Amino acid sequence: MCGITGYIGNRNATPILLKGLKRLEYRGYDSSGIAILDTDRIKYLKKAGKIKELQALISKTSIYGSIGIAHTRWATHGSPNDSNSHPHLNESGTIALVHNGIIENYEAIKETLIRKGVIFQSETDTEVLVHLISAIYYEDKKLSFEDAVRAALQEVVGAYGIVALCKDEPENLVAARMGSPLVLGVGENEYFLASDASPIVGYTRNVIYLDDGEIVSLTKNTHNISTLKSKEILTKTLTEIDLTIDEIEKGEFPHFMLKEIHDQTHSITNTMRGRLNFQDGTTNLGGISEFIPSLINASRIYITACGTSWHAGLIGKHLIETYAQVPVHVEYASEFRYRKAIIDSDTILIAISQSGETADTLAAIKKAKELGALTLGICNVVGSSIARETDGGIYTHAGPEIGVASTKAFTSQVTVLTMLALMLGRKIEVAKNKGQNLISSLSELNKDVEEILKNQKKIKEVAKFTKDVNHYIYLGRGINFPVALEGALKLKEISYIHAEGYPAAEMKHGPIALIDENMPVVVLAPMDNTFSKILANIQEVKARKGIIITITDTKNSELEKLSDFILYVPPTHQHVFPITSSVILQLLAYEIAVLKNCEIDQPRNLAKSVTVE
Ligand code: F6R
Repeated sequence: MCGITGYIGNRNATPILLKGLKRLEYRGYDSSGIAILDTDRIKYLKKAGKIKELQALISKTSIYGSIGIAHTRWATHGSPNDSNSHPHLNESGTIALVHNGIIENYEAIKETLIRKGVIFQSETDTEVLVHLISAIYYEDKKLSFEDAVRAALQEVVGAYGIVALCKDEPENLVAARMGSPLVLGVGENEYFLASDASPIVGYTRNVIYLDDGEIVSLTKNTHNISTLKSKEILTKTLTEIDLTIDEIEKGEFPHFMLKEIHDQTHSITNTMRGRLNFQDGTTNLGGISEFIPSLINASRIYITACGTSWHAGLIGKHLIETYAQVPVHVEYASEFRYRKAIIDSDTILIAISQSGETADTLAAIKKAKELGALTLGICNVVGSSIARETDGGIYTHAGPEIGVASTKAFTSQVTVLTMLALMLGRKIEVAKNKGQNLISSLSELNKDVEEILKNQKKIKEVAKFTKDVNHYIYLGRGINFPVALEGALKLKEISYIHAEGYPAAEMKHGPIALIDENMPVVVLAPMDNTFSKILANIQEVKARKGIIITITDTKNSELEKLSDFILYVPPTHQHVFPITSSVILQLLAYEIAVLKNCEIDQPRNLAKSVTVE
């Protein structure tokens, strides 16, 4: 949801900022812009469309200087046109600012500024910030630019990560955060600011994660971090970023999504590294070990998340209730935060988030904390807001996920939940050999994924046969119903084909009316206790001429007879099948989107890391 970046140092800021924007493009690609302090004035360029449009503009002009800011936008207030693009400048063009987040009270501030004679150029909420800072800075000549930013932000309600510069303080860059992420990269006589560490990693490994309510004032040699409430300088620890350039570039793959699907040959193993204990048939999850008694004795666990992470949560419910016998409720964070959920001191909230920055999930955590619940996080991005806000948690260690459609983060989330359920189950009545069975299947996952990736030809055939349909149905039962939901979401997101996931037996209560010879129906049919039931469900669809695409881990003649296409995953534990079958569904969505010429890594209207509510 918008990416911001800034640079101050001795180099030319323009190429650094542009490269940074490319790395942040997954956060939004409606428009982009850059502002550079060029000798005695601020030069800026901004353009609707992807970053390549801005690049083309920059190549035609000279925009050069060693202090600058840049932005890539996912539109909230105001359509994606040139004037709504960031940076926004004050009327005299002496202050420029980029912003990620939403200013909730912008209308009230705007009215006051208009009454003072300010003329606005855009429909954005952000523009009020730059005019407000400007009004405060130029009204009170004694204030530094940093003080003016601090004073302005005290009047603001909402979420923001901002970076701002001022022509009258040409040695200075100021940034602040409240609810939107901001990382400071500390180099030799230079500093970098960005919404995440990816624009920084090529220049320095030393970063400081800014916390909510903090403001940083930079010269090329110094950084002073204080809070919006107090000018007292804080001492913050330097963290070394654990990220390589290879991880954030797509290498030989045409798309990040395909790279990330292939990454699953090792990302799932990374999630499990050091955490499986075959000897005792259990798992060790250090980040939450002190909370095991609370988890086992919890009155209820809420799992909260959005989108794909919510689907992982539904699988987690099934596993935790099966192994640990604790009641689990899975809720969309955006719903949970606004309803009167039953929360007491024996309630535990587990928040799942790839980015660790999703605004609704973060708000749900804050609400649960206020009401006395213990909060735990399952996050991919180390040091993210959710990881820091929760009382404890488990990192998924899937590596950076850049494709907007989540793939490897999902399988790692499900892996973590499987390990969590087993660990809790082993503390109560689950037998050691049951644990060992599950662990030996989990340990095979890297080989299983390799096997699945070898069979892309068959998946491509299905894609070719179905690419022109308008609708798709996905069916699963029990633990595989959320897999059906996730398969449908992947297809919708990247190929724009309408798709629905249903519990297979629900078909006859309505959705079966949709079936005809043009309707592909993907059926998850592992060899578990529902196998005979799912065969019956397939018969029902077949009788209405639906195109049956079966995903199974079992050779079965009846299944083969009924299926138009059958895609195999290696035989596995029934609780590991959701992971292997998801890889097939990811590939299917990918191949269809390729055939339809869709923008796979940047689907229309979407952005990764949803930091607005
Ligand atoms: C879908 C997808 C989204 C995210 C959702 C939550 O492919 O990526 O549905 O799962 O926006 O994001 P996180 O997990 O970062 O909280």
